[in-house]
Amino acid sequence: MNANGITSRRRFVGGLAAAVGCNSLSPFGFPVESSSWSAVGSRGTAAGPDAEYDGMAKLASNENPYGPSETVLKAMNRAWKYSNRYRYPDGGIVEAIAAHHGVTPENVLIGAGSAEILKAADDAFLPDHRKVVGVEPTFETVYRYATNSKAQAIAIPLRADYTANMKEIIRVTKLNARDVGLVYICNPNNPTGNIVPKGEIRMLLESIPEEIPVLIDEAYHHFVENPDYESSLKYVLQGRKVIVTRTFSKIAGLAGMRLGYGVAPREVIDQLRPVTYGSSINALAKHGGVAALKDAAYESKIRQITRQVREKTAAELKSMGYEIIPSDANFFMVNIKKDATQAGEEFLKRGILVGRKFPPMDQWLRVSIGTPDEMNRFMTAFKAIFS
Ligand SMILES: Cc1ncc(COP(=O)(O)O)c(C=O)c1O
Repeated sequence: MNANGITSRRRFVGGLAAAVGCNSLSPFGFPVESSSWSAVGSRGTAAGPDAEYDGMAKLASNENPYGPSETVLKAMNRAWKYSNRYRYPDGGIVEAIAAHHGVTPENVLIGAGSAEILKAADDAFLPDHRKVVGVEPTFETVYRYATNSKAQAIAIPLRADYTANMKEIIRVTKLNARDVGLVYICNPNNPTGNIVPKGEIRMLLESIPEEIPVLIDEAYHHFVENPDYESSLKYVLQGRKVIVTRTFSKIAGLAGMRLGYGVAPREVIDQLRPVTYGSSINALAKHGGVAALKDAAYESKIRQITRQVREKTAAELKSMGYEIIPSDANFFMVNIKKDATQAGEEFLKRGILVGRKFPPMDQWLRVSIGTPDEMNRFMTAFKAIFS
């Protein structure tokens, strides 16, 4: 166990690698980051080509810095033997997801990350210049895919307190009802980290025409402890035209393995399925995903440490006079009152990756919650850059 009570990946993998006789090649060599930027040096040193990236504090992409749980690593290690097969036993990933949510396998569509499901929703529901309605800023991949398919995004600015303006989303959706192919709600929202309260989701679904599909992106669901939040899966069970997306990239620590899914009524899944690739997910990810669904204890441990580290960092920044948006996710936004891109470059010089600029919040920095060590490095750099 390391200082955070989380077992070091290096030790576990070392044991496993030795057991399978491949000491030098460990497929899961993702130790908890602890080396400093200066100690690692730059690309191409004796430390190897990956050393530059490995040595950075990676606070840019809202990942789980501790990696997957041991049960997940073991399940993935067992799945290596299927590397050379097409029709291998896949662990029953679709059935496992369905059982996890009390739906049938026909209600589930898996993708190479939930991004594949977001793209499928755009491809299926936004043909012929149709419109997608959502907030700004949000996880804009949905808008980007929409632009690729020549659809238009109607992005509603956040309210003064950085929350979604649900009344405006409803008004604009109704006004454009004939052209709106999709409503996109990210809950909690990326990049702000705040939730859309359950009452507002209900209001949305009660107010807009039932035939308009609503995609509720719950990538950060597992981090939320806010009593005003609830998952929108209940609307899928009620047969509403709602697609809930989830991912194994965040709390489960499998971003690099690419596994996510959508849950929706069967007829909606039947519209999405033909626009997915169909075989984009590998054997390791499937087996890892099944194990991750069962590992509630690890999930809870990650949620707890993430909250502790987030609150500690936010409190320190607040005590220095910086405004923070209260977050229910594994990242937060801080108003640095300076251009976020320039600040990002300053952090990069110090070996720290932070979130990019999220217009129109140009002076806000999105910071993912890393390990306590990474956050200490972040705070040291923050003080140096903004002194
Ligand atoms: C809100 C949101 N949705 C979806 C994704 C896509 O994640 P993935 O494709 O890894 O499941 C991300 C990634 O950062 C995200 O922040």
